Amino acid sequence: MEKLIIFDTTLRDGEQAPGASLTSKQKLEIACQLERLGVDVIEAGFPIASPDDFKAVADIAAIIKKSEVCGLARCLPQDIEAACQAVKNARQPRVHLFLATSKIHLKYKFKKAEDEIEEIAKSALRAARKKCGNIEFSPEDATRTERDFLFRMVETAIKEGARTINIPDTVGYSYPQEMYSIIEGIFNNVPNINKAVIAVHCHNDLGLAVANSLSAVLAGARQVHCTINGIGERAGNASLEETVMAVKTRRDVFKDVYTQINTREIFRTSKMVSVLTGFVVPPNKAIVGKNAFSHESGIHQDAVLKKRETYEIMNPRDVGAGESVIVLGKHSGRHALANRLKELGLKLDEKKLATVFTRFKILADKKKDIFDDDIIALAEEETKESKKIYELVSIRVITGTDIIPQATVEIKRKKKSMRAQSHGDGPVDACYKAIDKITQIKTKLVNYKLDAVTKGKDAQGMASVEINVKGKTIIGRGASTDILEASAKAYLDAVNKAAK
Ligand code: KIV
Ligand code: ZN
Repeated sequence: MEKLIIFDTTLRDGEQAPGASLTSKQKLEIACQLERLGVDVIEAGFPIASPDDFKAVADIAAIIKKSEVCGLARCLPQDIEAACQAVKNARQPRVHLFLATSKIHLKYKFKKAEDEIEEIAKSALRAARKKCGNIEFSPEDATRTERDFLFRMVETAIKEGARTINIPDTVGYSYPQEMYSIIEGIFNNVPNINKAVIAVHCHNDLGLAVANSLSAVLAGARQVHCTINGIGERAGNASLEETVMAVKTRRDVFKDVYTQINTREIFRTSKMVSVLTGFVVPPNKAIVGKNAFSHESGIHQDAVLKKRETYEIMNPRDVGAGESVIVLGKHSGRHALANRLKELGLKLDEKKLATVFTRFKILADKKKDIFDDDIIALAEEETKESKKIYELVSIRVITGTDIIPQATVEIKRKKKSMRAQSHGDGPVDACYKAIDKITQIKTKLVNYKLDAVTKGKDAQGMASVEINVKGKTIIGRGASTDILEASAKAYLDAVNKAAK
C-alpha cells in the first residue's frame, strides 16, 4: 500500500474564498491544528502577495515540525525569492511553482507561445531549485491544456528537478473519467514520470472536485490538494474530510492507498476553520455538517438502533463528531470552561477567557443546558481578530404585523456612545439602517442567515451576514439567545472588518 499524500491548501486557496481573510495569528492556529490532524503538507500562503502573507508563511514555517510547509510562487524571480525566503526555516520546506499552460491562458493572459512558456518554466525551476530542494510544479489549467503540451511540460519540469507534479483542474471543468484519462495519459506518455509524485488540485465549480480527485487517485495520483470544509476560490476546492473519509470508508476501492490523517481530529478542525473564517458549514455538508449523522425518519432511527450500519456508513466518532453533549451548566466554574475550550481546540488568553466566562454565566442563566456548540459560539467572538471599533451597547426594537418596524441602536466607539433610530422593512433591516446612521459606512447586504446553534427552544441564534463594501465581500457572525441581538452583532462584526 502506498501513502496518499494530503496537501492542505486551506491557508492559501481556502483563504482565497471571498470574505475569508485570516490574520497571521489565526493562520498559525489553524496550521497547528492541521499538523495535529496529520496533513503531510501545509500550503501556508502566497508569500509575495503581501507582507502579511509572507509573515504568516514564515511564522508557520518556524513552528511546524511534522508537516512540510509550502509557499506558493508564480514563475517570476521575485515570487521565487519571497517563497524560498518565507519557508527557509521550515524543518521540511517546499516551494510550489505554477504557470498556466492551456491555450486560452497562453493566448489571452500571457500572449506567449508554448515554447516560450516552457522556457519560463525551465528558468523558474532552475532558480527555485538553487534555493530549495523540494519543488512542486503546477501547469495551471492543466485539464484544459492540449495533452501533448501537458506531457511535454510535465517531462520538462521533472527534468528540471520538480519532485511533485500537480495537475490542477483550475476552473473545475473536468469530470471523473476525463481526470482518470489525463493521469493515465501522463503515466503512459511521460518517460521520466517515475521520478516524481503526481498530484491533483481540483476545484468544485461543477460539484465534482472530490470525485475528480478520487478518480485521479485510482489512476495513480499519490497526492491530493484539498481544503477543510472545501473552502476555496469560487465554489471551493476538494474537501479534505470528504476525500480522506472516502478513501478510509471504501477500502475495497482504494485498496492501494492509505492516508495518515487522524480522522478523529476532522470535526474539531472543521469547526475551527469555520469559526475563524466565518464560513458557515451547511447542515447537509458531508462528514462535518450538523445533519451528517442525524437520522430524522422513524424507520431509519429504528433500524440504526437495531444495527447502526443499516443507515450509517461511517461511525461519527471516527471523525470526532461525538454527540453534542451537555457539558456545562450554571454551576460550572471557570476551570471547567477553560478545560472544555482547550478540548475543543480553542486557545484563549486569560483576559479573553474572563470575558467568555462572564458571557457563559449570563447564558447559563437563560439556558438550562450548555452544549459544546454554545461554548464555541461564545468563544467565537473572542477568537475574532477583527478590531472591535464599534461595540453594541443595546438595541430596542418595536415590531409587529401591523406596524412599521422601528429600531433604536446604541453603539460604543472608543468609549463614546452613540444612538440612532430607524424604520425598516423588517426588524433586522431597521437595526441595520440605524447602525449605518452611526457608522456612516456604505454597505450592501448580500446575504443574511440565521441558524440555531443547538436544539431546543432556548437555543442561541447564530446570525451570519455577508456585506459588500466598496466591492469587497466581508462576512460577519454573531450569536445570542436574542435573534435581533445576534443579527446586530453579526452586522457589526462585518462592519468592524470594513472599518479597519
Ligand atoms: O487552481 C489552481 O490552479 C491553483 C494553482 C495555483 C495550483 O490554485
Ligand atoms: Zn486552486
